[in-house]
Amino acid sequence: MKLLVDDARIEEIRKIYECYSVDGVTTNPSILAKSGGNPYEVLKEIRAFIAEDAELHVQVISRDSDGMVAEGHKIIAELGRNTYVKIPTVPEGLKAMRILSSEGYHVTATTIYTPMQAFLAAKAGADYAAPYVNRIDDLGSNGIDATRKMHDIFKYNGLKTQILAASFKNSLQVQELCEYGVGACTVAPNVIEGLIRNAGVSSAIDVFVKDFESLCGKKKTMLDCK
Ligand code: E4P
Repeated sequence: MKLLVDDARIEEIRKIYECYSVDGVTTNPSILAKSGGNPYEVLKEIRAFIAEDAELHVQVISRDSDGMVAEGHKIIAELGRNTYVKIPTVPEGLKAMRILSSEGYHVTATTIYTPMQAFLAAKAGADYAAPYVNRIDDLGSNGIDATRKMHDIFKYNGLKTQILAASFKNSLQVQELCEYGVGACTVAPNVIEGLIRNAGVSSAIDVFVKDFESLCGKKKTMLDCK
């Protein structure tokens, strides 16, 4: 399963890249608004940092297919071919997905709440379908179950589209989809850090260091113990 960073703040992205092996960055208009900068300046800085071959996902704003396609062309021209044009999965969006994917561009179908939305996006040629796991939970349905159904629909219908699950609030949601083998999850930095945060592990390491220091002296390591 690929793991992407769901954020546009360059310092947060840098911090995650330092420790974790991740495959790219996703943004949406709300995430860009949180970054506070000019969208293309922010996105170009992210592109320069993650490099040409990493995935960058950028959403269109227009509500009509002509506008979505035009935005898609500009996004690719500014940010490179390995940029995925995120398009909301509504009727005009399906039309735009079909056009952009037939032109050979990468497309991510976004704002997916139901398996049939994902199915139609896949039929329109989207590379990824992005179910909003936590937002589905918030509506009283089960985001994990819905995402598993989408994954199975693609598999049993021979559709090449992959899941790019989004909108996570906790580690268990990510783990459950990892166990199921979905294509990708995009996860906010605090939730990525939560995937490995564990008081038991920290205290085990504290004891190891304390025991070693009692043997060799304060601040000693395997580099300078005699
Ligand atoms: C992907 O970029 C999605 O837009 C994002 O994960 C949505 O997350 P949210 O439901 O926390 O806003």
